[in-house]
Amino acid sequence: PVERRVADLLSRMTLDDKIGQMTQAERAQVDGDPDLVTRWRLGSVLSGGGSVPTPNTPQAWAEMINSLQRAALATPLRIPLLYGIDAVHGHGNVHGATVFPHNIGLGASRDAGLVEKVYRATAAEMRATGIRWDFAPCVCVTRDERWGRSYESFGEDPALVSRLGGSAVDGLQNNGVVATVKHFAGDGDTRYGTGDSGYAIDQGVTAAGPDDFARIDLAPYAAAVREHRVRSVMPSFSSVGSEGGPVKMHANRELINGTLKEGFGFDGFVVSDWEAIHQLPSAPGGDEPTADQVRAGVEAGVDMFMEPTTAPLFQERLRAEVEAGRVSRARIDDAVTRILRVKFELGLFEEPYVTAGPIGTAAHRELARDAVAASQVLLKNTGDVLPLRPDATIYVAGRTADDIGNQSGGWTVDWQGRNGDVIPGTTILDGIRAVAPAVTFSADASAPIGAADVGVVVVGETPYAEGHGDVGSKPWQFGTAEQKEPKLLTLQPADQAVVDKVCAAAARCVVLVVSGRPQVVTGLDRVDALVASWLPGSEGAGVADVLFGREQFTGRLPVSWPRAAEQVPVNVGDKIYEPLFPYGWGLRTTASTPLDTAAARVAAGTTPPGWQSMIADAAVATESGDPSRAATLLRPLTS
Ligand code: IFM
Repeated sequence: PVERRVADLLSRMTLDDKIGQMTQAERAQVDGDPDLVTRWRLGSVLSGGGSVPTPNTPQAWAEMINSLQRAALATPLRIPLLYGIDAVHGHGNVHGATVFPHNIGLGASRDAGLVEKVYRATAAEMRATGIRWDFAPCVCVTRDERWGRSYESFGEDPALVSRLGGSAVDGLQNNGVVATVKHFAGDGDTRYGTGDSGYAIDQGVTAAGPDDFARIDLAPYAAAVREHRVRSVMPSFSSVGSEGGPVKMHANRELINGTLKEGFGFDGFVVSDWEAIHQLPSAPGGDEPTADQVRAGVEAGVDMFMEPTTAPLFQERLRAEVEAGRVSRARIDDAVTRILRVKFELGLFEEPYVTAGPIGTAAHRELARDAVAASQVLLKNTGDVLPLRPDATIYVAGRTADDIGNQSGGWTVDWQGRNGDVIPGTTILDGIRAVAPAVTFSADASAPIGAADVGVVVVGETPYAEGHGDVGSKPWQFGTAEQKEPKLLTLQPADQAVVDKVCAAAARCVVLVVSGRPQVVTGLDRVDALVASWLPGSEGAGVADVLFGREQFTGRLPVSWPRAAEQVPVNVGDKIYEPLFPYGWGLRTTASTPLDTAAARVAAGTTPPGWQSMIADAAVATESGDPSRAATLLRPLTS
């Protein structure tokens, strides 16, 4: 019946109606003037990062979306609007929402059931604000963590990303929210993300050859389409090489129309990234998007165009191209069919209006706390300094110990995220204090360390999104000279100084690295325990849960942890593979699998040549459901 309803509606649509469905404008443009939705017959509106109503409450969101919906339903054919947003680690756009660990931390958990629950809760909180479409999950396979979106990745191994990405899709789509897998394809596989325009950080050329591209970068899309029936896909700003030179993904007919739609059988719709077609080649002259750019995008197979501020110009160009016969009416019908199919399936025609609901519920916060605990990776634990005893004299230092903004990362309330107290929740310090109230806290370690039994230093990156990331003490700014430099994955000097100071003075010391990707910490011989905490989100108490042994450490590295900044890129399967900690590394307080035993032996000093590959390859084998191969690979370390 859906196909019949689509065909019937399509047969009654004018060219303007169809072009309208293919257009997505931004909230800021239409919120004050919903009549534009009617006039432009918009198929969709999005909130870009940080584009929120005032006040930023579920009620205000629902009212705004209903007012835009009323305007959409005032068009002759009454086609409802689909509102989209980036809820990439929970619905972090809304003040008071539950903010879950970014995907890199979920990758460390290796727990597909957990990922599905997290995305189910995300869907529930999105629906509580009236939003039915998420530009998530990112199923990029991060192969060079200098790329600033690495934290949106579940990891460097395609099987891991495919499995967890599929669970994320299910978590959203089985709960009334359309998922988008992005950025198709190879966004995580460029060299530090840099493209021709220097600061164009998502816009490099994919480094993989055709076989690796299919095996690494395309695999998560094949799985999302074939096994999870994902309903939307967003192409990448990056390019993929071909015989004639690199082709921008938004104009990549072979990969979008060919591989994705015909090859994988994708029958949902492709939505462009933000003004992405404006980067396509074009004859000079005129404002963007030019006719050449519009035509190239449509013909490559993009169905809906994210044109935040240029919707009318996009429409004018597309209409002219169709009327001149340069874009076929059949391609327009195909694009609109796909969009309407998803709207009908979602039940938008039956229930276009929304009601506000609760967000940041106790149950969701409890789930987030569990997810945080499951994401922590114990990299080093000399002399079993962890778990901490609650009655120990604890000295806490580091600028991220008590900073909920830092621990949440980018895409939290603001596009870039923010430092400080931006959202309700618990900081890591709050979590520690709840167990050991007498701790001393000094962010910069200026207070005397005295006779502390143990120093806990919490350091790492400051928030960023769609940039190279943390560039020292300077605030992030799009397009600055610093942003043109590849980011080196070393701890900020001020953070390293706090580590050095505390670890020299305290009897024992624990360093928590709160970051979207590995950070090289020097002086590790003086660090007793090292933990990769990733970007936990609003429930910092989950970190304290593993520190004090309320929960066991179960996380494993989703990416290889380099020995030195210059070692990046370093990935499981590389011919020469000698990272500091391999893919799949993660110590436990009690070893229960061959991988645990092997890691414990290495930690105790057994390091035959090639031990990193043994562990990383065994982790991949375990995750691909081949434990006997894993056991064989690990034999030199376990027997
Ligand atoms: O969904 C995002 C995308 O990942 C990056 N550019 C902007 C889009 C919409 O916010």
